[in-house]
Amino acid sequence: MKPDTQLLLIAGLLPPSVASQSCPDYSSYSKTRHEPFSSGKHALSSARPSPACRTFNSSAVETLLTNMTSTIADADLARLFQNTYPNTLDTAIRWRGHAADNPAEELAFIITGDIDAMWLRDSANQLQSYLPVLEPDAAPNQTDSIASLYRGVINLQARQLLTAPFCNSFQPPPESGIPPSPNPAAESDTVFPPYDKEKVFECKYELDSLAAFLQLSTDYYESTHDASFFGAFHWLAALRAVLDTAGAMTRGTYDPDTGAVRLPSPYSFSRLTTRATETLANDGLGSPVRETGMVRSAFRPSDDATLFQFLVPANMMLARYLASASLIVDALVEESKVEVPEGLAEEMRGFSARVREAVTKYGIVPVVVASGPGGNASAAAAVETVYAYEVDGFGSAALMDDANLPSLLAAPVFGYLANTDPVYQRTRARLLSAEGNPYFMKGSVINGIGGPHAGPGMAWPMASIVRILTSDDDKEIVTALKELVSSTDGLGLMHESINSNNATQWTRQWFSWANGLFGQMILDLQFRKPDILQQSFQ
Ligand SMILES: *[C@@H]1O[C@H](CO)[C@@H](O)[C@H](O)[C@H]1NC(C)=O
Ligand SMILES: *[C@@H]1O[C@H](CO)[C@@H](O)[C@H](O)[C@H]1NC(C)=O
Ligand SMILES: *[C@@H]1O[C@H](CO)[C@@H](O)[C@H](O)[C@H]1NC(C)=O
Ligand SMILES: *[C@@H]1O[C@H](CO)[C@@H](O)[C@H](O)[C@H]1NC(C)=O
Ligand SMILES: *[C@@H]1O[C@H](CO)[C@@H](O)[C@H](O)[C@H]1NC(C)=O
Repeated sequence: MKPDTQLLLIAGLLPPSVASQSCPDYSSYSKTRHEPFSSGKHALSSARPSPACRTFNSSAVETLLTNMTSTIADADLARLFQNTYPNTLDTAIRWRGHAADNPAEELAFIITGDIDAMWLRDSANQLQSYLPVLEPDAAPNQTDSIASLYRGVINLQARQLLTAPFCNSFQPPPESGIPPSPNPAAESDTVFPPYDKEKVFECKYELDSLAAFLQLSTDYYESTHDASFFGAFHWLAALRAVLDTAGAMTRGTYDPDTGAVRLPSPYSFSRLTTRATETLANDGLGSPVRETGMVRSAFRPSDDATLFQFLVPANMMLARYLASASLIVDALVEESKVEVPEGLAEEMRGFSARVREAVTKYGIVPVVVASGPGGNASAAAAVETVYAYEVDGFGSAALMDDANLPSLLAAPVFGYLANTDPVYQRTRARLLSAEGNPYFMKGSVINGIGGPHAGPGMAWPMASIVRILTSDDDKEIVTALKELVSSTDGLGLMHESINSNNATQWTRQWFSWANGLFGQMILDLQFRKPDILQQSFQ
């Protein structure tokens, strides 16, 4: 393809069919191996698309890739980093442009992989991989920078949150000229509040989608200190939508005075399906909750239904990013270029503190250790406290972890607590054992956390990456990294899940966020444990 054709495509001026004439569809490209293979025993594919077919070029990322090649000794690990780290830029920047009603408002539509739809959570995390190279623009109106990409995603997420704040994934913006993607799974959905299928791809209410907007905003602000940007377009309005939506979802199921069920629920969802995790109990209300100060989440980051709606890691993430995003509001007040509602930053800090307090009070639960499964039934019961994955405020708790982020395992990764926190340490030990976590998969290929989305027996590389990010133990890190390097089925990319006993059985060949997360983890090791990158993984 000629570069000018590619530019027109990126600008949304050409139909996608023009691209496919010369650029292979990455869903198929990522399923087959391409030479030259890496020189290690795993002979990993060269999985980057050819330069002309890449969806974004960043010279900073290319420099970093070159630098890392000399830092990583093992040929297979080096190839895995080269393939995975740039994957979002290489394949998932589906469209960039400007708002129809404001030529200064940048927009960027980032797809999760093989569907032309943008998830709030995925897109925030897909960009987080490039935080190490996020810098303020060197020149005004610079369009080829990671900063511009961030602004485009923040602006588009703000629009999405103002359109349908309970929804998790969205259709291409009309400016892109890309037609909305059909979603057969959602055809039978009955959702309240109703939504527009031209704008929304799926409407599963997930608390971490709201927190993702705050995370993305924090990431951009802390690297650029570009406060003016947050006053320029719709960010403050979108922030209001986030606070109102999360605020509405703190309400308990029953009126504490009368006992009456509070109807309508701010959100409900039902689907015709054979999968229990694809719809909600109680005709779309979900399991009852008691008001605790925590915020309900109908679905998990895996897009599976919660068992109990107070999803602890999503509440942790919300508390953490409400606090950091309140500093953006402080900066806007300080700048006094735009009118900021009185007391907004204090409201965010107050909300954050209440959620944190409730997580500590209701999210930490006792577990019997001595007489539990694998324990000694005749020994006196010993009790320890750990974080539950989900609670309901009535005393019920799901003791498990689900691989997708935010997970309990990842609490230090998103900065809620330190990995040395004693409750976290006890929780982590349980989550990483087949006795303490119903979704921990043991196997000859990979040992790691999975979840109901891909089902028992399937371990998620993403959780093994998080295990490395939260460990200070070289032996644990090397073991997990070896498993990741050896379990890509020769394709050299991170899959969503892998049969823990058979690397040829996996799901999702093109999971852009998991690829970026692998790269983030390698960069973190370069900083924390450079010696590990000098080892052999053969
Ligand atoms: C990236 O650079 C290559 C040349 O190396 C070019 O062919 C391609 O069109 C560029 N992609 C974008 C999105 O600008
Ligand atoms: C790459 O390495 C050079 C030389 O050590 C250094 O100046 C530069 O900052 C590095 N770039 C990145 C993106 O890490
Ligand atoms: C940057 O873009 C804005 C809006 O399109 C425009 O008003 C301004 O003049 C541009 N600045 C430069 C230096 O091009
Ligand atoms: C189980 O606990 C009892 C009481 O503490 C002890 O006598 C017994 O040896 C234990 N059995 C095992 C297998 O550890
Ligand atoms: C792994 O799965 C593949 C594909 O289903 C199958 O052909 C192969 O026999 C399996 N290998 C083992 C060791 O079970």
